[in-house]
Amino acid sequence: MRISYIAGNWKMNTTKKEALDLVTELLNEGSFKNKVLIAPPYTLLDAISNAVKGTNLILGAQNMSTHESGAHTGEVSVLMLRDLGVDTVILGHSERRSIYGESDQIINTKIKLALKHNLNIIFCVGETLEERENGLAEKVVTDQIINGLEGVSDSDMDSITVAYEPVWAIGTGKTSTPEDADSIHRIIRNKIEAIYSKNVSEKLIIQYGGSVKPSNVKELMAKENIDGALVGGAALKAETFIPIMEYNK
Ligand code: 13P
Repeated sequence: MRISYIAGNWKMNTTKKEALDLVTELLNEGSFKNKVLIAPPYTLLDAISNAVKGTNLILGAQNMSTHESGAHTGEVSVLMLRDLGVDTVILGHSERRSIYGESDQIINTKIKLALKHNLNIIFCVGETLEERENGLAEKVVTDQIINGLEGVSDSDMDSITVAYEPVWAIGTGKTSTPEDADSIHRIIRNKIEAIYSKNVSEKLIIQYGGSVKPSNVKELMAKENIDGALVGGAALKAETFIPIMEYNK
C-alpha cells in the first residue's frame, strides 16, 4: 500500500510574511495523516526551515544547480539546500524545461547530484498540448522517464517520487480527467517496472499535478495509480491547500 503524498509548489510567490503566515495556518489548522511537503522560493527556505522544524511538514526546494559550488552567479547548490535543512528538491518541472531550457540531460545531472547528497527528489514529467494532440503524450513522458533516470540505481529509486504534470493543465484550470491521468501514471509505472523491477514500480509514488483543487482531488486520488498531488495555485492559501492535504480525512 503506497502512502498519499501531497506537495505544494509555491513557485515564485509569497513574501516572507505571507509565507510564514501560511505555514503557521497549515501547522495550526491542518492535520498530517498524509505526507505533506511545501516548496517555497529559495529566499524563504531558511525562515521556513526554522518554522517547520520538529513538525510533520516537509521542506522542499523548487530547483537547484547542476554544480556543487563555484563560479555560477545566481545559482543555488545542493550543498546550500542541505545546509538549510531542505529534505526534497523538485526537478524537471515543466516551467524549468520550457522557460529555462532544461533538457533531460540537465535534469538527469541534477537528479544524480541530489542523490549523491541524499536529497529526496520530486521528478516532474509531462507533455505539452501540441504533443498530446499529435498522439505523443506516451512517448514524451516515457522518454523523459528513461533519460531523466539514466544511471539511477534500484536503491536510489527509494528517494524518488515522480510527478506527472501535463503542461496544458498547469495553471489553466483544465485538469486531466482522472482516467486520462491514471492511464499515463500506469504507463510510467510499467516503464519503471521494465527498467527496474516490479518491486520498485509498486513502491513508486506518482503524483498528479495540474489544476488540482479541493473540488477534484478526491476523484483523482481515487485512481489506482495516482498516489499524490503536486499543487501550484491552490497551495498558496491554507483554505484551499488544507482540504487537499486532508482529502481523505
Ligand atoms: P497548478 O496547480 O497551479 O496548475 O500548478 C501545478 C504545478 O505546476 C505544480 O508544480
